Amino acid sequence: VSLSFDRVADEYDATRGGEARGAHIARDIEPHLAGGGLVLEVGAGTGVVGMALRQLGRDVLGIDLSPAMLRHALPRLGHRVAVADAACLPFEDGAFADAFAVWVMHAVADPAPVLAEVARVLRPGGRFVVCSSDSPDPDAVTEIVGRLVAGLGRDEADRRAPEMLARLAAGRGFRSLGIARGAPATSPESPLDVADAMARRTSSWLWSVSDEQWHALVEPAMASLRALGPGPVQRVTRQRMLVLERARSA
Ligand SMILES: C[S@@+](CC[C@H](N)C(=O)[O-])C[C@H]1O[C@@H](n2cnc3c(N)ncnc32)[C@H](O)[C@@H]1O
Repeated sequence: VSLSFDRVADEYDATRGGEARGAHIARDIEPHLAGGGLVLEVGAGTGVVGMALRQLGRDVLGIDLSPAMLRHALPRLGHRVAVADAACLPFEDGAFADAFAVWVMHAVADPAPVLAEVARVLRPGGRFVVCSSDSPDPDAVTEIVGRLVAGLGRDEADRRAPEMLARLAAGRGFRSLGIARGAPATSPESPLDVADAMARRTSSWLWSVSDEQWHALVEPAMASLRALGPGPVQRVTRQRMLVLERARSA
C-alpha cells in the first residue's frame, strides 16, 4: 500500500522546508518541462512546489491520495486539486502537456503502474520530471543519516532510485532524457534538531522501523547526532531529477 501522509499533514511544511523548498524545486523542474498546456502534479501534498510553478506561469493541477495534505494545497493551487491514486488517474488519455512528482515515488505502493498511468495521461512529447530525493553533499549530519538509511535497508531505496525508475519507465511508454541535477540549496541545520525530528519519526522512512531496528540503529544515530552539538551545520543539497519523455509512438 502507498504510505499515508494524513498523520503528518499539519506539520509537513514546517518539517520539510515549506514554501522556500517549493520555490527552489520548482525552479529546478521548470526548464525540463515541454510546455504548452496543463501540468499534472502527482502527489502534490501541501502544494508548495505546484504553487511556485504556477507563479512561474505554469498551469498546474495537483492530485494526491491524502485529503489532509491536499487541504493545505487547495488555496495554493487555486482549488485545482483532486484526491486520486497515481496508479489509477481519473483523466483522459493525453490530457496533460507535462507532469512532475516530487518526493513521491518512494511512497507509492508500486512505481510501475504509476509510470504507466502518467504515460497514458500525457500527450506525445510531454515530459514527466521525477524528483526522487535530494542528494546532499557530504557533511557530518549527512554521513550519520546516510549510514542509518543504508543500515535500515538500502534495497528499498535503490528500487526507487532514478536509475531504476528509468529502466521501469522504458517499458511503459517513456524514453529517458537522463538524470538532471538541480541547483545547490544551502540551509543551516542543527544536529540536535535532526535528532529530535528522528525521535518524532518525522521522515516516512522511519515509519515502519521495528523496535529492534530502533534500538540497534536509530538510537545510536541519534546519539551520534547529539554528540555533534547544537552548532548549525551548513547542509548543501541538490535535487536529482529523472526526466522522462512520453514516446511519440507507443
Ligand atoms: C513526501 S510527500 C511529497 C509532497 C509534495 N510533492 C512535496 O514535495 O512537498 C509524498 C506525497 O505523495 C502522496 N502519495 C503517496 N502515494 C500516492 C499515490 N499512490 N497516489 C497519489 N499520491 C500519493 C502522499 O499522500 C504525500 O502527500
